[in-house]
Amino acid sequence: MHTLESLPLGDKPATYAELARSLRALLEGEPDLVACAANTAALLYWGLPQLNWAGFYLVEPRTGELLLGPFQGKPACTRIPVGKGVCGTAAERRQTVVVADVHDFPGHIACDSASNSEIVIPIIDGERLIGVLDLDSPVPARFDADDARGLEVLVQVFVAAIRAPKPSS
Ligand code: SME
Repeated sequence: MHTLESLPLGDKPATYAELARSLRALLEGEPDLVACAANTAALLYWGLPQLNWAGFYLVEPRTGELLLGPFQGKPACTRIPVGKGVCGTAAERRQTVVVADVHDFPGHIACDSASNSEIVIPIIDGERLIGVLDLDSPVPARFDADDARGLEVLVQVFVAAIRAPKPSS
């Protein structure tokens, strides 16, 4: 089984390269969206230091809203309209959003009062927005450009896994 030890923050590119290897191994041969999202959230939550929440909001086709998906951390708000909060902003812009101090972000949606900084990465397959990956930290300014680059690669690994051909029944 996979050993989950929080990796040191010192060399972020090395940490994310290690996480990318682990994620590829973890998701290999399993294209199910929920299973892949659940294991990705767990790998990140337990593998990265200084997080209090890691998880997914997935686009609900019927409403177009972001709907809470697999996560690790305290219970969170269920629905976020695109354009609202940090998650909805990343979804609308289709760009990673790094927030050093969530209390300064207009419209930030507070799910866990312990959160002080946040990063949200959009999950896009071709033209299609699948959802967002959201990480929260109690440490102010926990996330930087190295985290953005590293997490964007992990999201690509995730998208490649769920895009893999489904086994024929
Ligand atoms: N803070 C997010 C809401 C989700 S929770 O952090 C888990 C936002 O402003 O979109």
